[in-house]
Amino acid sequence: MRRVLCVLSLAAWLAVPARAEEPPFAQRSETQPPPVGALSDMMISILHRHAILWMAGASNNWPLADYEARQLKARFAEAAQAYRNIPVETITAATKALDNVSAAIEQKNKPQFALRFLALTSACNACHASAGVGFVVIETPRTSPFTNQSFAPATK
Ligand code: HEC
Repeated sequence: MRRVLCVLSLAAWLAVPARAEEPPFAQRSETQPPPVGALSDMMISILHRHAILWMAGASNNWPLADYEARQLKARFAEAAQAYRNIPVETITAATKALDNVSAAIEQKNKPQFALRFLALTSACNACHASAGVGFVVIETPRTSPFTNQSFAPATK
């Protein structure tokens, strides 16, 4: 029985088309979507990605920066879908700021990336203020909080 379930879930897994932001070897199951975490846990993940995004851009690692910007956008979309009472304009502002960052990444324009990253960070803080959690203040990371990830562009 367990093997049948396993084959069935594998079949369902294979039938699901890839989503743009997911690598081809790890497609999300439509029948068993992963559980949605608490909003505050999603925000901790967003906080990490915000830091990685900055480190990637500051290190001229544009493929990583592009990847993180897409991850952030997907996490915002998930939060907006899972929590319907989030004011739509705050999500729109953050998404628009993120799109502007992505455009700078596409052009590998570091000064523009830095300016637009600041605007993104302001969008984080604007939503926190309007959501009554204005004590959660986001800023540009001064150093990487991760000592186990290299941000230098890959050599191949
Ligand atoms: C659309 C609104 C909105 C946007 C945009 C937003 N946040 Fe949040 N954030 C919240 C809310 C609401 C909470 C409080 C969640 C709770 O306590 O359940 C929160 C909480 C947090 C927390 C505290 C989590 C904890 O458990 O300590 C962090 C860190 C955080 N956000 C980071 C960010 C970062 C970084 C960005 C921007 C890249 C961002 N947020 C953008 C709404 C937003």
